[in-house]
Amino acid sequence: MTDYTKEIQKRRTFAIISHPDAGKTTLTEKFLLYGGAINLAGSVKGKATARHAVSDWMEIEKERGISVTSSVLQFNYDGYCINILDTPGHQDFSEDTYRTLMAADSAVMVIDASKGVEAQTRKLFKVCAMRHIPIFTFINKMDRDANDTFELLDDIEKELGIPTCPVNWPIGSGKKFRGVYDRDTKKVLTFSDTMKGTKEGHIEEIDIDDAKIDEVMDEDQKEQLMDEIELLDGASAEFDMEAVSCGKLSPVFFGSALTNFGVETFLQHFLTMTTSPLPRTADCGVIDPMTEEFSAFVFKIQANMNKAHRDRIAFMRICSGKFDAGMEVYHVQGDKKMRLSQPQQMMAQDRHIVEEAYAGDIIGVFDPGIFSIGDTVCTPGKKFAYEGIPTFAPEHFARVRLLDSMKRKQFVKGVNQIAQEGAIQIFQEYMGGMEEIIVGVVGVLQFDVLKYRLENEYNVDIRLENLPYEHIRWIANKEEVDVEKLTGTSDMKKVKDMKGNPLLLFVNSWSVGMTLDRNENLKLEEFSKN
Ligand code: G4P
Repeated sequence: MTDYTKEIQKRRTFAIISHPDAGKTTLTEKFLLYGGAINLAGSVKGKATARHAVSDWMEIEKERGISVTSSVLQFNYDGYCINILDTPGHQDFSEDTYRTLMAADSAVMVIDASKGVEAQTRKLFKVCAMRHIPIFTFINKMDRDANDTFELLDDIEKELGIPTCPVNWPIGSGKKFRGVYDRDTKKVLTFSDTMKGTKEGHIEEIDIDDAKIDEVMDEDQKEQLMDEIELLDGASAEFDMEAVSCGKLSPVFFGSALTNFGVETFLQHFLTMTTSPLPRTADCGVIDPMTEEFSAFVFKIQANMNKAHRDRIAFMRICSGKFDAGMEVYHVQGDKKMRLSQPQQMMAQDRHIVEEAYAGDIIGVFDPGIFSIGDTVCTPGKKFAYEGIPTFAPEHFARVRLLDSMKRKQFVKGVNQIAQEGAIQIFQEYMGGMEEIIVGVVGVLQFDVLKYRLENEYNVDIRLENLPYEHIRWIANKEEVDVEKLTGTSDMKKVKDMKGNPLLLFVNSWSVGMTLDRNENLKLEEFSKN
């Protein structure tokens, strides 16, 4: 094996998906702790400090105390090189969160044991399911009173439509939490309170038939565990690695990120069950990550890292080969050879210049405004484009009113540029022009971002009027239907996107179904691949 193939083999690139407060940050922090990337638990977290050091580029972020964009963390553990793609966990997450998932090879889904599947998890799961990537479940906060374990699994299966396979099984929860039973080794890992992770936990591994087990749990708990295991062996899906690999079965682990319990076991299992970077589809066929030639695609563009220079950073996922700083690459969509300048990578909290990177890694490069989301860069001499990144359905809409009509030109430029970066989507009335613009966003914070940026960068004041639409559908068979003649519901609005594709906006999901019923040959879709 050559050096570069060894490097690629040891890479694991995944995203953590969850609903806010389920414990994603805490889990990430514990991963970094095991990898030795940070010394002190808490240094990633401190929402007011560390997160801003990473993305301290926009006042709006400071004001709100949340991270608008997602970042990437790299660390080493047990011979693996791990890239964690951070997906903003706040309610105001954006389309970037979805796009980040396009760069991951697998996902870890963190669920709060007392809450089960929540709204944001559901949304992010949908995107992972669309890509058929492996999804691992970590049921967190077992040190607090949890829902019934079977109910939790049932919830995942019913809500998300994915069968589960528990790798371990919890013994009690809250004050009665005693640890987990590993179904494979038939050993119990005992829980000891680490006082929120401040002191080292002592985890013992005891065989279920060992008499010592009685010191860990009482008779009732043991009986319950035995009953549950028996039930589980009969009822749950059998472990099938192939089904896991294509996202059709989710291995489930229980633990408590805050107290460090179950985290390392989870990480170890996860690393052996996931694979090195996956092949990716391009217009010339599937590209093997192990091929020597470098290739990557842009999945995120972050604007204004430095306000004075109006520069942008394009985040790329390397899909094959090795990247060397200073190497010449070919930007396929721009049809230009170029050098990527100031390639950066995030190691724990630090941003640093990368000299080399491999398939599976994410790099951020300086973008003078030439890249668009989904663009491919590759070794000169090659010419192929990776499959595009879908446009995800916005969930909030507003009409944009320009306050000073003399500034029309700057306004159109600004709105278009911000849309090109992927922060917002813009639509027009189906039969209208640019005089009236409707903006759609995935998270409402993007409205503030738009207003703020138009004011600060383009010197344009706008007013946003919220529209009641919540559902958007692209017309999948636009060649076959006459959009003007569609019979919709009274709340339906016909619009078009910047490429002229027709879309329908609805206030409620009932209207979507109704419109489909009324127009027999109409086909609608939630993502647009155009
Ligand atoms: P997020 O990134 O998914 O939004 O969640 P985060 O890790 O920030 O965790 C949300 C809250 O849940 C935090 O409490 C955190 O300490 C707590 N938490 C995370 N994992 C566990 C766990 O395994 N057990 C228990 N009991 N709590 C857990 P907070 O009060 O919001 O913050 P802090 O004051 O503790 O820092």
